[in-house]
Order: sequence, then C-alpha cells, then structure tokens
Amino acid sequence: MAETYDVVIIGGGPGGYNCAIRAGQLGLKVACIESRGTLGGTCLNVGCIPSKALLHASDLYRAAQEDFAGLGIKTGKLEVDIDQMMAQKNDAVDGLTKGIEFLFKKNKVDYIKGRGKILGPGKVEATLTEGGTQTFETKNIVIATGSEPVGLPGIEIDEERVVTNTGALSLTTIPKRLILIGAGVIGLEMGSVWARLGSEVTVVEYLDRILPGADDEVAKEAQRAFKKQGLTFRLGMKVTGVEKLKSKLKLSMEPAKGGETEVLDADVVIVAVGRRAYTDGLGLENVGVTTDKRGVVQVTDGHFKAADGVWAVGDCIHGPMLAHKAEDDGTAVAELIAGKAGHVDYNLVPSVVYTNPEIAWVGKTEEQLKAAGVEYVKGKFPFMANSRARTNHETTGFVKILADKATDQILGAHMIGTGVGEMIAEICVAMEFGASSEDIARTSHAHPTLSEAVRQAAMGVEGWTMQM
Ligand code: NAI
Repeated sequence: MAETYDVVIIGGGPGGYNCAIRAGQLGLKVACIESRGTLGGTCLNVGCIPSKALLHASDLYRAAQEDFAGLGIKTGKLEVDIDQMMAQKNDAVDGLTKGIEFLFKKNKVDYIKGRGKILGPGKVEATLTEGGTQTFETKNIVIATGSEPVGLPGIEIDEERVVTNTGALSLTTIPKRLILIGAGVIGLEMGSVWARLGSEVTVVEYLDRILPGADDEVAKEAQRAFKKQGLTFRLGMKVTGVEKLKSKLKLSMEPAKGGETEVLDADVVIVAVGRRAYTDGLGLENVGVTTDKRGVVQVTDGHFKAADGVWAVGDCIHGPMLAHKAEDDGTAVAELIAGKAGHVDYNLVPSVVYTNPEIAWVGKTEEQLKAAGVEYVKGKFPFMANSRARTNHETTGFVKILADKATDQILGAHMIGTGVGEMIAEICVAMEFGASSEDIARTSHAHPTLSEAVRQAAMGVEGWTMQM
C-alpha cells in the first residue's frame, strides 16, 4: 500500500529541506527523499559550508603570518596541520547536516534515504539506499534536485588531481602548483584557500575579466587585491585539455580569440566553469514536465509550477544558483501549497563571494542599468576613509550605491571589503521596502563601524559624503 502525503519532495538540499520544514510547520504531511546519505545538499556537504570552514581557517593562518606582527602580536613558527583543518571542516558539516535531521523530526518530516523518481501524477517511487523500493501517493511533488558541476571536453575529472569543488575541499596535501579553470565564485574562493596555505595559484579564465555578473568596477578592484595576494590571472584563455602524467599534470590552453597553444604544469587542476541543473532520470516525462538544453525545469506560471501538482525550486529552475535563493524558493512553495502567498524577487537575492576582501552585491550593476537605459546616480565611499577600517588596517575596497535619478529609489549596491557579506543585508532590507538612498543616508549607523561606509555611500548619491 502506497503511503499518502500532502507533499513529497525529491532532494534534501537548501531548496528541499526548507520546503520540507516549512510544510511540516504548516501542518502538511510531508516526506523528503534524499540519496546522498546526508541532508543539506551541495551547500552543506560540498559547497558553502565546507568552503567557508577552509576560508576561515586559512585566512586566520594568513593573518597570523602577515598581520599579527604589525598588531603587536608575536608568534612562533607557524605550521599548517592540514588533517586538523579538514577535520574541523568535517565537524562543521556533520553538526549542521545532523541539525537538519533534528529539524525534520521536530516538524514531523519523513526523511527517506533513497533516490526519488516520478512515476506519474501524484506518484513518486524511492529506490531505497538500504534496498527495495517505496511508493508514495501525494497531492504535490516538489523537484529540488539541485545542480552538478559542468565538465570540459578533453578533461577527465578524477576528484584527486583533476577536481571539482568536491575534490578541492578535501585535498589531503597542499599542492605546490594549482591551476583553476574559471575565475568565477568557486575558482576565486578555492584559489584563495590554497594560495593562503602556500600553493602557487594560476587562474585561467575564458573571458577577459573575472567574476562575470559582478559590477565591473568591483571585479577590477577584486582582481587587483587577489593579484597582490599572489594569484596569477590568465584572462582570455581557453583550456583545451589536461594530460595526466605520473609526476604532474600538463594543462593546454590557447587564446580565446585563437592563437598559439601554451602548456602549464600543475599538481592539481580545479575545474570551476559553472554548474548545470541536475534533472536526469527523474521521470519528468511521466508528468509532462520539460527542461531546456541545460536541464533547467521549465515552469508554467513564471515562477515555481512545472505542471499540475508538480513544483520545482532551487538550482534546477531559473534564477541564480545560490543556496539562499533555493531556501526562499522552498519556503515559498510550501506556503503556496498550504494556500498562502509565496513569492521570491530574484532581483533582490544578494551575491556574496567569501574571499578576503569579501565581495557582495544586490540589484542591478552599472552595466545593466546602462544597457537598460535607466538614468541613475552613483554614491561611492572607500574603506580607506572609514575610521573602523583604518583602525583595523583593513582599508581595501569601497561601497557603491546606485539610485534612480528621478526617484532616488535604490537600484543596486556593490561592495568589496572586509565584512561586506554581512553588510549587504542592510541594502536587501532597504530595497525590499523600496527605500531611497536618502532613507539610508538619514538612518543612524553606530560609530565606529564598517557599516558607516554604507551610509556614507548613500549620502554620496546626493553629494554630501563627509570624507577627508
Ligand atoms: P561561475 O559561473 O561563477 O564561473 C565560471 C567561470 O568559468 C566563468 O567566469 C566562465 O567564463 C569561466 N569559464 C567557462 N568555461 C571556461 C573555459 N573553457 N576556460 C576557462 N574559463 C572558463 O561558476 P562556478 O564558479 O563554477 O560556480 C558555480 C555556481 O555555484 C555559481 O552559480 C555560483 O554562484 C555558485 N557558488 C556560489 C558561491 C557563493 O555564493 N559564495 C560559492 C561557490 C559557488
């Protein structure tokens, strides 16, 4: 006998688990099918969380080497204990994935370990990890299967020497020569970790800029900062293959515009050229759900609905591939199923790159506004002129706020500097409320804090920044 549910969710990442917990809170009978063996998806297991554990630890090591003496702190000989660094990362991951299991129990979500497949309208089958199958009858199916790394032709990933984010987070030794393919978010975060720990890092990028999607001015400032940290950038280069020799890897590349092939030696190559929706073998055809060429589930209502009684959330639908966007999608869908309102504004999903300096933005870039013909005013404030940043000797970067020329409504904010990943939330709230730059400029900000730079940038929109 198949069990009957209100909601069966396929996938237990940030999209799926938030949907499950919210559905449970709203009194719906819910099951979540996950095949990985742990909850949390890419984010908790091989993405956001382990990368932040390594970014945090490696940045403290860097600070101990480079900053402590100037602050009057003497250290002895510093050494990296890579096993312990990986162990503390694994501890963070374990604690958080178990935390979701606890939240499932608390909210009466049935956690099914196995691989889910849609058999037809209202019918899902799980091939259980422990063997056998289980069938579910359900009023609603939620597809929350996330994404997987994209590969490159001519490059075989082995997750030991040629790795994706998964392997890059679990290297057992510090590679002497590390090459990153792709100067996107994963490339820069992973490059930062291993450069701080002592690797010679080269970043090979197809485009003639880093961080596509980020504001141009921010990307340029970031590249300057990373160069100072020892990262070598080879922009406008297309990787054509990686040959695996016993003693080393040989990476071939050529100018994107065409030209001579160049070969670089490496010990480890990280492939970080984007991700694609993970929707193969899900039985989508059994409910008339279609995907585009890249596997992205097509929605019929412009938002989350893929067919009658079938919803999709997170990386496998349109919108930015970010954990917090997936969380919001999942919550909104649970609320829609429960008959409440549910909506996510993808224009207000912040992006954060957790390097040092951090990079954060929300809303439109200057390039997007220009392309759309929107007239805007810019306010900008450098951390060099912020008293707290100067006191902490962390003066790289700036805050930039873009506001509509006619109405002063904030259209976007772009920041680079220490702590901006936290500071962007202020702008997200302001933009959700349709705030003007003047609203922020006239809001009291504690002194001395880094967030005063946000206020000063907002003051700059009307030209009354108070800067030395
Ligand atoms: P990405 O899309 O951010 O960057 C990929 C880069 O690879 C692009 O700059 C692209 O031009 C370049 N590229 C593509 N083909 C190439 C080739 N043949 N040779 C050289 N360069 C090439 O993708 P990434 O970094 O893999 O991240 C995947 C997803 O995960 C993104 O959606 C990202 O937002 C998300 N993510 C978010 C994080 C965060 O929020 N902090 C952290 C890590 C990942």
